Amino acid sequence: MSRILTGIQSTGTPHLGNLLGAIIPAIKMANSSENESYLFIADMHSVTQIKDPKQLRFNTYSTAASWLAFGLNYNKTIFYRQSDVPQVTELAWYLNCYFPYQRLTLAHSFKDKSNSLEDINAGLFTYPMLMAADILLYDANIVPVGKDQLQHLEITRSVGNKFNHQNGETFIIPESKVDEGTMLITGTDGAKMSKSKKNVIDIFLEEKLLKKQILSIKTDSLPLEASKDWKNCNLFKLYELLCDEKQAETMKNNYTKGGYGYGHAKKDLLNLILTKYKTEREKYNYYMSNLDKIDSILKTGALQASKTADKVLNRVRIKVGFN
Ligand code: ADP
Ligand code: TRP
Repeated sequence: MSRILTGIQSTGTPHLGNLLGAIIPAIKMANSSENESYLFIADMHSVTQIKDPKQLRFNTYSTAASWLAFGLNYNKTIFYRQSDVPQVTELAWYLNCYFPYQRLTLAHSFKDKSNSLEDINAGLFTYPMLMAADILLYDANIVPVGKDQLQHLEITRSVGNKFNHQNGETFIIPESKVDEGTMLITGTDGAKMSKSKKNVIDIFLEEKLLKKQILSIKTDSLPLEASKDWKNCNLFKLYELLCDEKQAETMKNNYTKGGYGYGHAKKDLLNLILTKYKTEREKYNYYMSNLDKIDSILKTGALQASKTADKVLNRVRIKVGFN
């Protein structure tokens, strides 16, 4: 049996792109897998960017509530908060001491951001070492990640191998798994949906605010009577992602025959989201008003994760020359 492990960034409430592109497929895989799976919220990594404790706490809860709302089975997956298993920072320290400084300067997490961010802290620089510790601490075999994380996985393998080479077999060297089939969801402006571009649709928002986001979807300015081109319409693309075949046919007809404005289409999209995700929205709100439930689920996960962490860390301490 393999152990699958992955971490989720907690930089805000997940949007439709995160949900369709990453969260829903990951939950499907975790719930149906024969393998053991570990899933954690990388709140320690978030400190490299977020310095507001309220914001940090909110992001963690909101990320957890989204995964739970979409049906993550927390009896099957070990679901925890990174910061609840602080053993990871001890391992990160050892790994830091086994990895060349020069190679860290080439990591994307640091290199890409060092041009744009004001706050280039040492945590951002050693980000890949904490990520390597996240993985090596749990004897993970498979790590599903987006393409942008492959370099971090290479660094993880490299530091794990280096340690093993020097001290004898200690770490399991993990394989990455990139899902090539994931969809790329476009945002309200037609570009890739992304928090940083402020073009997201946040399906958990209260109706009024969600409506505002949907009204901001960019379209051409053809009048109500005109026949419209659904093939090149960003609004239709979003609708089509969520609707069934019959609904898609109806909207295509409406577009072609005219007398159906973009305002109507936006209203239809809003109603579709509210109906399709009714249960998930309710569950999300339930968890966000019962934070103790989230705490209790994450604590149970952390307790289980800690057992593995202690075992591996003990192995490492002996190799390093302690106890
Ligand atoms: P953002 O770009 O909004 O900051 P993240 O980089 O935090 O999103 O992405 C978290 C996960 O969601 C990643 O696995 C990423 O591949 C996926 N994802 C993000 N945006 C999209 C999108 N527009 N379409 C599909 N998947 C996406
Ligand atoms: N860096 C990852 C991201 O930006 C999140 C992450 C942290 C992670 N630790 C991890 C992913 C360990 C996989 C395994 O998405």
